[in-house]
Amino acid sequence: MIPVNEPLLDGNEKKYLLECIETGWISSEGPFVSRFESLFAARVGRRHGIAVCNGTAAIDAAVEALGIGPGDEVIMPAFTIISCISQIVRAGAKPVLVDSDPRTWNMDVSQIEARITSRTKAILLVHIYGLPADVAPVLEMARRYGLKVIEDAAEMHGQTYRGEPCGSFGDISVFSFYPNKHITTGEGGMIVTNDDHLAERCRSLRNLCFQAERRFVHEELGWNLRMTNLQAALGLAQLERLDEFVARKRRMGALYSQLLEGMPGVQLPLARTAFAENIYWVYGLVLDESLGLDAATAMKRLASVGVGCRPFFYPMHQQPVLRRMGLFAEDAHPVAERLYRQGFYVPSGMALTEEQIRTVADRVKEVFAS
Ligand SMILES: Cc1ncc(COP(=O)(O)O)c(C=O)c1O
Repeated sequence: MIPVNEPLLDGNEKKYLLECIETGWISSEGPFVSRFESLFAARVGRRHGIAVCNGTAAIDAAVEALGIGPGDEVIMPAFTIISCISQIVRAGAKPVLVDSDPRTWNMDVSQIEARITSRTKAILLVHIYGLPADVAPVLEMARRYGLKVIEDAAEMHGQTYRGEPCGSFGDISVFSFYPNKHITTGEGGMIVTNDDHLAERCRSLRNLCFQAERRFVHEELGWNLRMTNLQAALGLAQLERLDEFVARKRRMGALYSQLLEGMPGVQLPLARTAFAENIYWVYGLVLDESLGLDAATAMKRLASVGVGCRPFFYPMHQQPVLRRMGLFAEDAHPVAERLYRQGFYVPSGMALTEEQIRTVADRVKEVFAS
């Protein structure tokens, strides 16, 4: 089986992990954490980096730090991961969804303005699968209406929008370091911001809202979202190779496209848009209905010939847990619905070899020809 993801850990990972073990620094107090935070924040041009235990936790803390709560509305894409919405809902705020652009699969930012009301507090700008969403109109609307922007750059390490790093655009921006990301810490996440107050809030929320004086006396409730020194050691070793990893993923994406181009009824990822070159976080395929094949059937057939695949995101407005809460009864987002029905991705991990890519492409062609 060619796995859908496998990370590359052949740089300084072992050396730095050994250093943790030899020095005994394995908790979040260890020196790799602050080093990883400052180098990562510098890489995306932000003053503060706050390392946390995963990307979902980073979003949770961002939503809480911005004071989003009952009566507030947050505009966000329908086509994304559940991590984007859980804290908005738990905090008692209302998520308001926009559909996707069928070419880039990113949120269609032209739908945002019509959904802004007097209750809108923030826009959650999510970049999907390797291409950034169109940032400039979102920042312009946020300025004009006095809204906060949370930027979910979980999949965007090393990506830029019009030459500026993804992760540099939100009042708060977040990343994930899950093993399928361009750089990984096993589990992990990072919050970045230029705002001193928001950074302090996130640091406090990450660490149970302990107070410097009177440590076990709490004025507020936080979480334990801390990243360990072991995770940060991995992160630092990975960060050293970010440019190499981005170049590698771009070569992988280009090879897939070269091999799969011209297949009737199969939409491939765009190589570029007006503002970015794809970094192919994952290599997605969207099948035309004329093939008489949906994503679930295609993935099953590919699995039977040894190719690991994953479905695209399931739209937020169709999530049973959210529908049961009475959310989204009136929502229809046909592009997001179709992306789930017809879209999936093929093996895309950092350790994938050229030979494996060629095998996957051959298998895809065989399956769709049969
Ligand atoms: C867009 C997006 N946001 C958030 C997350 C959550 O990150 P994590 O898995 O580290 O919790 C992911 C994870 O894949 C993601 O793709």
